[in-house]
Amino acid sequence: MQIDFRSDTVTLPTTGMREAMMNAAVGDDVFGEDPSVNQLESMAAQLFEMEAALFCPSGTMSNQIAIKCHTQPGDEVICERQAHVCIYEGGGIAFNSGAQARTIEGDRGMISATQVEAVINPDDVHKARTSLVCLENTSNRGGGSCYDLDEIRKIRKICDTYGLRLHLDGARLFNALVAKDETAGQYGKIFDSISVCLNKGLGCPIGSLLIGSAAFIRKARRVRKVLGGGMRQAGFMAAAGIYALEQQVERLAQDHTHAKLLASELSKKTFVKNMMPVETNIVIFETPPEQPAKIIAQRLLEKNILVIAISPSQVRFVTHQDITGNMLQQAIDIIRHL
Ligand SMILES: Cc1ncc(COP(=O)(O)O)c(C=O)c1O
Repeated sequence: MQIDFRSDTVTLPTTGMREAMMNAAVGDDVFGEDPSVNQLESMAAQLFEMEAALFCPSGTMSNQIAIKCHTQPGDEVICERQAHVCIYEGGGIAFNSGAQARTIEGDRGMISATQVEAVINPDDVHKARTSLVCLENTSNRGGGSCYDLDEIRKIRKICDTYGLRLHLDGARLFNALVAKDETAGQYGKIFDSISVCLNKGLGCPIGSLLIGSAAFIRKARRVRKVLGGGMRQAGFMAAAGIYALEQQVERLAQDHTHAKLLASELSKKTFVKNMMPVETNIVIFETPPEQPAKIIAQRLLEKNILVIAISPSQVRFVTHQDITGNMLQQAIDIIRHL
């Protein structure tokens, strides 16, 4: 049996989710006639206490639509150096929006209000127009780190002062909400737009939600269509999303417990250096120079434990719904004897 810690995207739909999908009421969503998509979108808007939401095929598309809606070609987007929107979306900021990224070296993927203010360009013809700030919560490359809500509020204030929009890549926002006992509404009050993934810890096969004002979502719906993201009987997938939001959010706490147990065993190993604090479902550590991350990943693979070497010197484990308590215990035993 393989124990797959590569990502929380590898999960398979549960029996309950499959049943919800099979029984979904569907229609043509490009005509606005899919009842399940409409239900999911209004559920998300309500949850975040925002006006509207848009069901998208992926987190990448949600983020890219948001960036396109908030910027003009030649603009600058402020984000952390390792933000997903910057390093993992195929150069989409330039490709889709003709904008460029202004990156900041953050703390575990998180940037501060002071840092944001320091890189906002003055109104000068030589400079790109700064128009958008993107935050990521939890931060993937930051080891599942969670922002302090007060710092986000400070960033909002800076955005208001300088007339910037604020987007949240909340691919794993529900992990942060569960870990920090926060509500979606608290985030909805702060951001101009939020993307949340259904296809990660929430266990759906496909899907992401983009949430914002009614005017923003109207614009976003047009951009989604241009990108080829207008889906027809998408209700089969939306039904999975509804099921996940109703049934599989609280469960994330178990992934967080599993990640901490794993981290505590890993931290005893000589090949584990500088482990990042474990706040949610991601464990990232450095390996020593004589044992590159690829070698550690290979040794684990030989014992049927799958992980990712996310850089030459960093290994990542991600816990998720398909890692049972027994599998976790088995992985811990294997690591103990490695
Ligand atoms: C932080 C973050 N944002 C966005 C995405 C994109 O999601 P998707 O794979 O659905 O495009 C990911 C995926 O891993 C992610 O980790």
